[in-house]
Amino acid sequence: MARVVITDRIPDEGIELLSADHDVVIGTPGQDLTELVRGADAVLTMLADQVDDALLDAAGDHLRIVANVAVGYNNVDVAACDRRGVVVTNTPKVLTDATADLAFALLLMVTRRCGEGERLIRAGQPWAWGMNFMVGAGLQSRTLGIIGAGQIGRAVGRRAKAFGMNIVYSGRRSLPSDTTESLGARRLDVPELLATADVVTLHCPYVPADRPDSTHHLIGAAELASMKPTAYLINTARGAIVDEDALVRALADGTIAGAGLDVFEHEPRVHPGLLALENVVLLPHLGSATVETRTAMAVLAAQNVLAVLAGREPVTPVPVPTN
Ligand code: DGY
Repeated sequence: MARVVITDRIPDEGIELLSADHDVVIGTPGQDLTELVRGADAVLTMLADQVDDALLDAAGDHLRIVANVAVGYNNVDVAACDRRGVVVTNTPKVLTDATADLAFALLLMVTRRCGEGERLIRAGQPWAWGMNFMVGAGLQSRTLGIIGAGQIGRAVGRRAKAFGMNIVYSGRRSLPSDTTESLGARRLDVPELLATADVVTLHCPYVPADRPDSTHHLIGAAELASMKPTAYLINTARGAIVDEDALVRALADGTIAGAGLDVFEHEPRVHPGLLALENVVLLPHLGSATVETRTAMAVLAAQNVLAVLAGREPVTPVPVPTN
């Protein structure tokens, strides 16, 4: 029996798959991870767990797989895992629709001032219908700019098309022609996209500042200044893709019209400047948070672990960085 450590409780379907043949240990929030992972053959990690040399050393020589229960895996030092022969997997595809739905929810909330309206009513403020009362921005014929047109970015694009938006995107690769045709999407470089889009939505991975393909602070003061003053920024990817200090200034001084954020630079801390602003919608990293999606993520992570422990290829391995 292998020792399988899950750092936080996942849906039962995933636990049952693992515990049929293995000894499963489940951590509790706040528990010392280095203690928890000691002697593990497999670890299922959550996106806030830092998997670095220290954690891998603590786990020891038996460790064969780190199965991150998230599509993003910037919390895992994949090169350090690779040096030890530890496979890293993530949970792509199963959370695409849930995350795209949430990005679109943020987009609607911020453009139609839903957060502001809700706060006003809950605060017991007087209000009355009026032609000029809490008027937002319509989406039809506006342009959505998708930065990072992978699975989630494209799923947001499909939703935007159904709302009558035009679509531009930037990414390392051109989309296949059937996708660009069905979305009517045009590829632009990031500066052009920022200058063109009425709503910019981020779906690229977070890559730290020391890597040549870094996306750290991809959106900073200069990029925000290049957006239209009527434009909105949506981030359901990773907080540190945006320079949060610069975003607070841009939202406060009208450089851009608003933002919808599901992720934060120093999660779970939220920049106090954001809390004070009306033109930003803030959610606590709910992108994949549906029962169906979390269950599918747990099952996929468990399948990856079972495959590696049985000497097979995992379903969704992540690539090892080449630099
Ligand atoms: C992920 O899985 O990386 C997402 O951030 C979940 O919302």
